[in-house]
Amino acid sequence: MTATRYLVTSALPYANGPLHLGHAAGAYLPGDIFCRFQRLRGNEVLYICGSDEHGAAILMRARQEGVTPKDVVDRYHERIARAFERFGMSFDWYGRTSSATHHETSAAFFEKLAGEGRFVLRSEEQLFDPEAKLFLADRFVVGTCPKCGNANAYGDQCEACGSSLSAKDLIDPRSTLTSATPVLRETTHWFLPLGDHQEVLAKWIASRVDWKPNVLGQIKSWMEGGLEDRAMTRDLPWGVAVPKAVADAAGVDASGKVLYVWFDAPIGYISATREWSQAHGDPDGWRRWWQNDETQLVHFIGKDNIVFHCLVFPLMLHLHGDYVLPRDVPANEFLNLEGQKFSTSRNWAVWLDDALDEFPADYLRYALCSILPESKDADFSWRDFGARINNELADTLGNLVHRCVTFCVRSFEGRVPPLEGPSDVDREALDQLARTTRAVADSIEHYRFREALAELMNLARHGNKYLSDGEPWKTKKSDPRACANTIHVALQIVASLSILSDPFLPDIAQRLRGRLGLGATRREPQDAGLSWDAAAQPLLEVGATVHDGEALVPKIEDSAIEAQLAKLEAASRAATGTATEAADASSSAAAYAPLLPTIAFEDFAKIDLRIGRVLSAEKMKKSKKLLRCEVDLGFEVRQILAGVAEHLTPEDLIGKQVVVVANLAARPMLGTESQGMLLMAEGRDGKLSPATAAQEAGATVR
Ligand code: MF3
Ligand code: ZN
Repeated sequence: MTATRYLVTSALPYANGPLHLGHAAGAYLPGDIFCRFQRLRGNEVLYICGSDEHGAAILMRARQEGVTPKDVVDRYHERIARAFERFGMSFDWYGRTSSATHHETSAAFFEKLAGEGRFVLRSEEQLFDPEAKLFLADRFVVGTCPKCGNANAYGDQCEACGSSLSAKDLIDPRSTLTSATPVLRETTHWFLPLGDHQEVLAKWIASRVDWKPNVLGQIKSWMEGGLEDRAMTRDLPWGVAVPKAVADAAGVDASGKVLYVWFDAPIGYISATREWSQAHGDPDGWRRWWQNDETQLVHFIGKDNIVFHCLVFPLMLHLHGDYVLPRDVPANEFLNLEGQKFSTSRNWAVWLDDALDEFPADYLRYALCSILPESKDADFSWRDFGARINNELADTLGNLVHRCVTFCVRSFEGRVPPLEGPSDVDREALDQLARTTRAVADSIEHYRFREALAELMNLARHGNKYLSDGEPWKTKKSDPRACANTIHVALQIVASLSILSDPFLPDIAQRLRGRLGLGATRREPQDAGLSWDAAAQPLLEVGATVHDGEALVPKIEDSAIEAQLAKLEAASRAATGTATEAADASSSAAAYAPLLPTIAFEDFAKIDLRIGRVLSAEKMKKSKKLLRCEVDLGFEVRQILAGVAEHLTPEDLIGKQVVVVANLAARPMLGTESQGMLLMAEGRDGKLSPATAAQEAGATVR
């Protein structure tokens, strides 16, 4: 087989926040499994990624935090790179778009397209913040959505109704930097006329029949809407500067103008490859990958990146002329978390590095791979995670390994027993090795990673069944040869699994191979490591030594899962807490009493209200609730029994003015009579005070 050359990329993450599990499941884990698999197969692989360090979002974050954009990207670049490493990402190079090589590469790319007249120069009025002295691109302006009325729509999109907007369409726009009302000011930009190339693009896409349906579907809807020209430059103080030569030739003042982040970022794949080849002492080595029709360029991305990787960047590569176009763009849909969207602002997220503090990378890889949003959105839940690790990975794979290795150690001195006169069942079990190896490979080649993982777990499941049915603990005495055969075959299954699981669970696979005395797997076409195809047939020599050890896949305690759920809730409560506290403060505790049904004026006019003065008040012997008061109405003194003794002392009332319902029918009470009613105001805290001295607006008078 001749080696295929795979140039694989995973979307460059924005260096403006940490990675969460949704990111991992979108563009990274699938890319890594694919690359590890292709290396094992003996193909040539170069796996490229890096931090996307430009764009308005980073500038905005810096302004919010009162630091420089450089501070922001330095911090997150380190954090992201470290999380990837711990997650087991096998990038050959992890670059960053703030590097000199990247600035140079992307500026030269732009200059070439500009020099060949590929852009359309256009001046138009755009929103400008007169205080910050900045044009307000995309997210720098918010206002009311003209489509749905959401008061906080962004300049490029309304998150409430999903419409994509142009900043100028916003009603009552305001700058997110200064809250100033923006003014319109003219500015000039370089546009990529995608519409002019729609036919070329359509033809090219039509030849990509094997792309994933979710990807082709999205491309089709972009195409049907008609491709529009897109500005490839921005007025921003952060990014790759528009080359002076280009600006001069166009007679435009380029100060404050940079390349659009979606122009420079994908070129980051190329500049990172250049850095990789420089680091390997072969400065021109990158050309062999990028400027070569043999190369299979594969971009792993999330679905929000489809238009850029399937239309804009391919067009840029095509117009430039020197580069290979993507062979495939296996984009994933989104992952949700416990039934809700991941949200950085609401802190509804599981950060990859936090999760790696708690659980082995392979546990996260296993659980995420089982639920990858390959064709539709998927949901991560901690309880499901725990169940998958304990009931599948531990009970199926971990248990199979434990059972046959322990048996071999106890009964065969840890040496692989011979296979002599195998039964049909033994042969059938061995035949499965080739079948599964082929099936897993086929699934990975088609980017069906969930299915691939399920196939290999099935082999482990069959292994367990084979072992149980073979009952070696019985045949050990009754039929020692059958017993040896069973353990031989079961160990061969485990050996194959130590290779098949390698792309998915690199650490577990390596430890497993260690126990079986197997060496490393192949990383390069020429190296002598174990290859993928080795999994298709029995791999262990008779007499080879195997070792027992700690559980390969220790189970997760329920309490560890509950702790994660509690942590998630607490973090999200803390993030949304400010809003809740504000609401609490204005309502102190309880709600206002609901209003009673409306009455007619005539009804109200029947009540004769008078101001009275409390002359005396005293507790009544037989009642905890009532105070007996003598109230002076001016024209007469009344005895009124007021139900306030649990709230007020006699001293609270004596000498005070109160409103009295003066025409209420006298009521007999406790052997005496109440001749009216004192009106009290009751606050939401339940406290009473004379209506004339109410403590709070809205108190109920009765
Ligand atoms: N930073 C972008 C995102 O996170 C992805 C950039 S991919 C690249 O959505 F191609 F532009 F590099
Ligand atoms: Zn809207």
